[in-house]
Amino acid sequence: MSKSKVFLVGAGPGDPELLTLKALKVIEKAEIILYDRLINKEILKFAPKTAKIISVGKEYGKQQQIQEKIYNLFLEYSDKGMRIIRLKGGDPFIFGRGAEEIEFLIKNKIDYEIIPGISSALSIPIQFNIPLTHRKYSSSIGIVTGHEDPTKDKRKVNFELLAKAVDTLIILMGLKNLPYIIKSLLNGGLPKNTPIAIIEHGFFPDQKILTGTFETILNKIKQQKIKSPVLIIIGEVINLIN
Ligand SMILES: C[S@@+](CC[C@H](N)C(=O)[O-])C[C@H]1O[C@@H](n2cnc3c(N)ncnc32)[C@H](O)[C@@H]1O
Repeated sequence: MSKSKVFLVGAGPGDPELLTLKALKVIEKAEIILYDRLINKEILKFAPKTAKIISVGKEYGKQQQIQEKIYNLFLEYSDKGMRIIRLKGGDPFIFGRGAEEIEFLIKNKIDYEIIPGISSALSIPIQFNIPLTHRKYSSSIGIVTGHEDPTKDKRKVNFELLAKAVDTLIILMGLKNLPYIIKSLLNGGLPKNTPIAIIEHGFFPDQKILTGTFETILNKIKQQKIKSPVLIIIGEVINLIN
């Protein structure tokens, strides 16, 4: 093992005050920070003035190239014995390739530590008083991606089966595929009046929520010009806020 260390740190959902104390402590001692597009840049102000701060934001369609760039930066700075903070949105192990980055570090014998963060999936609904479970209306939660790796032979998320498998469904990266997702959930047996909420840019000053049903939501999204990042929540729990 080299004496350098990579800290894979969850930056939380956007509000800098939702950073964990452990994350704050390592950011305050950072020498290099490699940060993702969705994190709140205010968090970078906690780093020492001397820290080198590099954006490795994922541009749509260029994920693989950017991933290679991140791996090269790990190698370059760990060779120099530096303390590297890899800052990822939400929790580092909920989508976003955190596990792949750790696999790379293990393979290259680079020391690492993982610091969990508050995931957008679990915290953004709370901003709008949407509980994910409720004794009467929801006893289960499913957290899924709406955008599977297009190079995979077969889709792993089976929305038709999920329709009846969980009470509250939380979908990340699902805006583009929402027409397909709704169609599959209808095929799976959910009714047309199933409640759905779309939260755009949660925890940021421009955050926005749109609520509706499977029948109304696609038109509303068009009218309101909703854009990514969005969190999609489906289930009876949404009715509790209306
Ligand atoms: C690659 S995933 C990473 C998720 C992250 N690891 C987490 O735990 O929150 C990115 C997706 O998370 C969701 N997301 C993250 N931050 C968000 C925010 N502030 N508002 C709405 N959705 C967000 C969106 O669905 C976005 O496309």
